[in-house]
Amino acid sequence: MPRPLADYGLFLREFRRTFHTTGAILPSSARLGRALARYVAAEPAAPTAKIRRILEVGPGTGAVTTHIAQRLGPTDQLDLVELNDRFVAHLRDRLANEQRLAPVAARTTIHHLPVQELPGEGKYDVIVSGLPMNNFSVELVESILGACRRLLAPGGTFSYFEYIAVRPMRAMISRQAERQRLRGLDHILGELLAKHEFSRQAVLTNMPPAWVHHLRLDKATR
Ligand SMILES: C[S@@+](CC[C@H](N)C(=O)[O-])C[C@H]1O[C@@H](n2cnc3c(N)ncnc32)[C@H](O)[C@@H]1O
Repeated sequence: MPRPLADYGLFLREFRRTFHTTGAILPSSARLGRALARYVAAEPAAPTAKIRRILEVGPGTGAVTTHIAQRLGPTDQLDLVELNDRFVAHLRDRLANEQRLAPVAARTTIHHLPVQELPGEGKYDVIVSGLPMNNFSVELVESILGACRRLLAPGGTFSYFEYIAVRPMRAMISRQAERQRLRGLDHILGELLAKHEFSRQAVLTNMPPAWVHHLRLDKATR
Protein backbone atom coordinates (compact mmCIF):
# COMPACT_ATOMS: atom_id res chain seq x y z
CA MET A 1 0.00 0.00 0.00
CA PRO A 2 1.37 3.53 -0.77
CA ARG A 3 2.85 5.23 2.32
CA PRO A 4 0.23 8.02 2.83
CA LEU A 5 -2.66 5.54 2.58
CA ALA A 6 -1.05 3.18 5.09
CA ASP A 7 -0.49 6.15 7.45
CA TYR A 8 -4.08 7.37 7.09
CA GLY A 9 -5.44 3.84 7.67
CA LEU A 10 -3.42 3.36 10.85
CA PHE A 11 -4.30 6.85 12.10
CA LEU A 12 -8.01 6.28 11.56
CA ARG A 13 -7.88 2.90 13.32
CA GLU A 14 -6.07 4.44 16.29
CA PHE A 15 -8.54 7.36 16.32
CA ARG A 16 -11.36 4.82 16.74
CA ARG A 17 -9.45 2.71 19.28
CA THR A 18 -7.87 5.50 21.37
CA PHE A 19 -9.81 8.68 20.49
CA HIS A 20 -8.83 10.43 23.71
CA THR A 21 -5.05 10.36 23.13
CA THR A 22 -5.01 10.28 19.29
CA GLY A 23 -7.32 13.29 19.10
CA ALA A 24 -7.62 13.63 15.30
CA ILE A 25 -9.05 11.60 12.41
CA LEU A 26 -6.22 12.44 10.04
CA PRO A 27 -2.49 13.04 10.45
CA SER A 28 -1.36 16.68 10.15
CA SER A 29 -1.10 18.10 6.63
CA ALA A 30 2.25 19.00 5.03
CA ARG A 31 1.56 22.71 5.63
CA LEU A 32 0.88 22.15 9.29
CA GLY A 33 4.01 19.96 9.53
CA ARG A 34 6.14 22.69 7.95
CA ALA A 35 4.69 25.38 10.22
CA LEU A 36 5.35 23.26 13.33
CA ALA A 37 8.92 22.47 12.26
CA ARG A 38 9.73 26.11 11.48
CA TYR A 39 12.10 26.69 14.43
CA VAL A 40 13.85 23.34 14.16
CA ALA A 41 16.28 24.81 11.61
CA ALA A 42 19.21 26.48 13.39
CA GLU A 43 19.29 30.26 13.17
CA PRO A 44 21.90 31.42 10.60
CA ALA A 45 23.99 33.15 13.30
CA ALA A 46 24.07 30.03 15.53
CA PRO A 47 27.48 28.33 16.00
CA THR A 48 27.61 25.47 13.48
CA ALA A 49 29.54 23.14 15.81
CA LYS A 50 26.78 23.11 18.44
CA ILE A 51 24.91 19.81 18.67
CA ARG A 52 21.22 20.66 19.06
CA ARG A 53 18.66 18.34 20.58
CA ILE A 54 15.12 18.34 19.25
CA LEU A 55 12.15 16.59 20.87
CA GLU A 56 8.91 15.74 19.08
CA VAL A 57 6.05 14.94 21.46
CA GLY A 58 3.28 12.72 20.06
CA PRO A 59 4.68 11.99 16.56
CA GLY A 60 1.85 9.55 15.70
CA THR A 61 2.50 8.16 12.22
CA GLY A 62 5.35 10.65 11.63
CA ALA A 63 3.56 13.30 9.54
CA VAL A 64 5.43 16.13 11.28
CA THR A 65 8.58 14.06 11.89
CA THR A 66 9.51 14.11 8.19
CA HIS A 67 9.46 17.95 8.21
CA ILE A 68 11.53 18.05 11.38
CA ALA A 69 14.02 15.58 9.86
CA GLN A 70 14.49 17.80 6.79
CA ARG A 71 15.46 20.76 9.02
CA LEU A 72 17.96 18.98 11.26
CA GLY A 73 21.60 20.09 11.06
CA PRO A 74 24.21 17.37 10.35
CA THR A 75 24.95 16.69 14.04
CA ASP A 76 21.53 17.44 15.57
CA GLN A 77 19.86 14.71 17.64
CA LEU A 78 16.15 13.92 17.39
CA ASP A 79 14.10 12.30 20.18
CA LEU A 80 10.51 11.15 19.66
CA VAL A 81 8.24 10.47 22.64
CA GLU A 82 5.07 8.53 21.87
CA LEU A 83 2.82 6.51 24.17
CA ASN A 84 0.87 4.47 21.58
CA ASP A 85 2.62 1.13 20.87
CA ARG A 86 1.20 0.81 17.32
CA PHE A 87 2.48 4.26 16.38
CA VAL A 88 5.86 3.38 17.93
CA ALA A 89 6.11 0.21 15.80
CA HIS A 90 5.12 2.20 12.70
CA LEU A 91 7.72 4.90 13.42
CA ARG A 92 10.46 2.28 13.88
CA ASP A 93 9.53 0.78 10.52
CA ARG A 94 9.55 4.19 8.79
CA LEU A 95 12.92 5.13 10.29
CA ALA A 96 14.43 1.86 9.10
CA ASN A 97 12.97 1.87 5.61
CA GLU A 98 11.82 5.23 4.36
CA GLN A 99 14.00 7.48 2.24
CA ARG A 100 12.96 10.68 4.04
CA LEU A 101 13.65 9.34 7.53
CA ALA A 102 16.42 6.75 7.11
CA PRO A 103 19.17 9.44 6.82
CA VAL A 104 18.42 10.63 10.38
CA ALA A 105 17.66 7.18 11.87
CA ALA A 106 21.07 6.84 13.55
CA ARG A 107 20.52 10.18 15.31
CA THR A 108 16.93 9.47 16.31
CA THR A 109 15.74 7.84 19.56
CA ILE A 110 12.16 6.72 20.16
CA HIS A 111 10.95 6.85 23.77
CA HIS A 112 7.87 4.69 24.24
CA LEU A 113 6.20 6.45 27.16
CA PRO A 114 4.10 9.52 28.03
CA VAL A 115 6.10 12.76 27.84
CA GLN A 116 5.38 13.41 31.54
CA GLU A 117 7.64 10.41 32.32
CA LEU A 118 10.53 11.37 30.04
CA PRO A 119 13.51 12.04 32.33
CA GLY A 120 15.84 15.04 32.03
CA GLU A 121 16.08 18.76 32.58
CA GLY A 122 16.91 21.55 30.13
CA LYS A 123 17.91 18.96 27.49
CA TYR A 124 16.15 20.19 24.38
CA ASP A 125 16.71 23.28 22.22
CA VAL A 126 13.38 22.80 20.45
CA ILE A 127 10.24 20.91 21.46
CA VAL A 128 7.49 20.34 18.88
CA SER A 129 4.23 18.99 20.27
CA GLY A 130 1.37 17.32 18.40
CA LEU A 131 -0.64 16.51 21.53
CA PRO A 132 -4.43 16.97 21.43
CA MET A 133 -4.48 19.16 24.57
CA ASN A 134 -8.17 20.03 24.10
CA ASN A 135 -9.05 16.38 24.81
CA PHE A 136 -7.28 16.33 28.16
CA SER A 137 -8.19 17.26 31.71
CA VAL A 138 -6.84 20.50 33.15
CA GLU A 139 -4.58 18.47 35.47
CA LEU A 140 -3.12 16.46 32.59
CA VAL A 141 -2.43 19.58 30.49
CA GLU A 142 -0.71 21.19 33.51
CA SER A 143 1.41 18.08 33.97
CA ILE A 144 2.34 17.92 30.25
CA LEU A 145 3.24 21.63 30.16
CA GLY A 146 5.26 21.15 33.35
CA ALA A 147 7.21 18.34 31.67
CA CYS A 148 7.86 20.47 28.57
CA ARG A 149 9.12 23.36 30.74
CA ARG A 150 11.44 20.98 32.61
CA LEU A 151 12.78 19.42 29.40
CA LEU A 152 13.31 22.66 27.45
CA ALA A 153 16.72 24.36 27.63
CA PRO A 154 16.78 28.04 28.67
CA GLY A 155 15.93 30.14 25.61
CA GLY A 156 14.57 27.05 23.78
CA THR A 157 11.51 27.08 21.55
CA PHE A 158 8.28 25.21 22.23
CA SER A 159 5.88 24.87 19.27
CA TYR A 160 2.42 23.31 19.38
CA PHE A 161 -0.85 23.43 17.48
CA GLU A 162 -4.54 23.44 18.24
CA TYR A 163 -7.56 23.41 15.97
CA ILE A 164 -9.05 26.87 15.47
CA ALA A 165 -12.11 27.68 17.62
CA VAL A 166 -12.42 24.08 18.83
CA ARG A 167 -12.98 25.02 22.50
CA PRO A 168 -15.81 27.56 21.92
CA MET A 169 -17.49 25.19 19.43
CA ARG A 170 -17.32 22.24 21.84
CA ALA A 171 -18.53 24.43 24.71
CA MET A 172 -21.69 25.33 22.74
CA ILE A 173 -22.79 21.68 22.59
CA SER A 174 -21.50 20.49 25.96
CA ARG A 175 -22.87 19.89 29.44
CA GLN A 176 -21.80 21.85 32.49
CA ALA A 177 -18.84 19.64 33.56
CA GLU A 178 -17.35 19.66 30.07
CA ARG A 179 -17.83 23.44 29.78
CA GLN A 180 -15.97 23.82 33.05
CA ARG A 181 -13.07 21.70 31.75
CA LEU A 182 -12.91 23.78 28.56
CA ARG A 183 -12.91 27.03 30.59
CA GLY A 184 -10.03 25.63 32.66
CA LEU A 185 -8.05 24.89 29.48
CA ASP A 186 -8.85 28.37 28.13
CA HIS A 187 -7.40 29.83 31.30
CA ILE A 188 -4.15 27.79 31.35
CA LEU A 189 -3.44 28.01 27.62
CA GLY A 190 -4.48 31.67 27.41
CA GLU A 191 -2.07 32.56 30.22
CA LEU A 192 0.71 30.49 28.65
CA LEU A 193 0.33 32.28 25.32
CA ALA A 194 0.00 35.73 26.87
CA LYS A 195 3.33 35.23 28.69
CA HIS A 196 5.41 33.29 26.20
CA GLU A 197 4.14 33.34 22.61
CA PHE A 198 6.43 35.17 20.17
CA SER A 199 4.86 34.07 16.89
CA ARG A 200 1.77 32.26 15.56
CA GLN A 201 0.55 31.08 12.19
CA ALA A 202 -2.91 30.07 10.96
CA VAL A 203 -2.89 26.97 8.72
CA LEU A 204 -6.29 27.28 7.10
CA THR A 205 -5.79 24.46 4.61
CA ASN A 206 -5.34 21.83 7.34
CA MET A 207 -8.34 19.60 8.11
CA PRO A 208 -9.51 21.07 10.47
CA PRO A 209 -7.78 24.51 10.22
CA ALA A 210 -5.22 25.04 12.97
CA TRP A 211 -3.21 27.63 14.87
CA VAL A 212 0.48 26.96 15.31
CA HIS A 213 1.91 28.66 18.39
CA HIS A 214 5.63 29.28 18.97
CA LEU A 215 6.74 30.06 22.52
CA ARG A 216 9.93 30.84 24.40
CA LEU A 217 9.75 29.58 27.94
CA ASP A 218 12.59 31.77 29.23
CA LYS A 219 13.74 30.99 32.73
CA ALA A 220 12.72 34.37 34.14
CA THR A 221 9.12 33.97 32.97
CA ARG A 222 8.58 30.25 33.59
C1 LIG B 1 -3.18 14.49 17.23
S1 LIG B 1 -2.06 13.10 17.22
C2 LIG B 1 -0.73 13.93 16.33
C3 LIG B 1 0.12 12.98 15.52
C4 LIG B 1 1.13 13.68 14.61
N1 LIG B 1 2.04 14.53 15.34
C5 LIG B 1 0.42 14.49 13.55
O1 LIG B 1 0.42 15.72 13.69
O2 LIG B 1 -0.12 13.90 12.61
C6 LIG B 1 -1.51 13.04 18.90
C7 LIG B 1 -0.40 12.04 19.20
O3 LIG B 1 0.05 12.23 20.54
C8 LIG B 1 0.22 10.96 21.19
N2 LIG B 1 0.10 11.22 22.63
C9 LIG B 1 -1.02 11.57 23.32
N3 LIG B 1 -0.72 11.80 24.61
C10 LIG B 1 0.63 11.65 24.74
C11 LIG B 1 1.55 11.80 25.84
N4 LIG B 1 1.13 12.14 27.06
N5 LIG B 1 2.86 11.58 25.61
C12 LIG B 1 3.30 11.21 24.37
N6 LIG B 1 2.48 11.06 23.30
C13 LIG B 1 1.16 11.28 23.47
C14 LIG B 1 -0.89 10.11 20.57
O4 LIG B 1 -0.66 8.74 20.75
C15 LIG B 1 -0.83 10.59 19.12
O5 LIG B 1 0.16 9.88 18.41
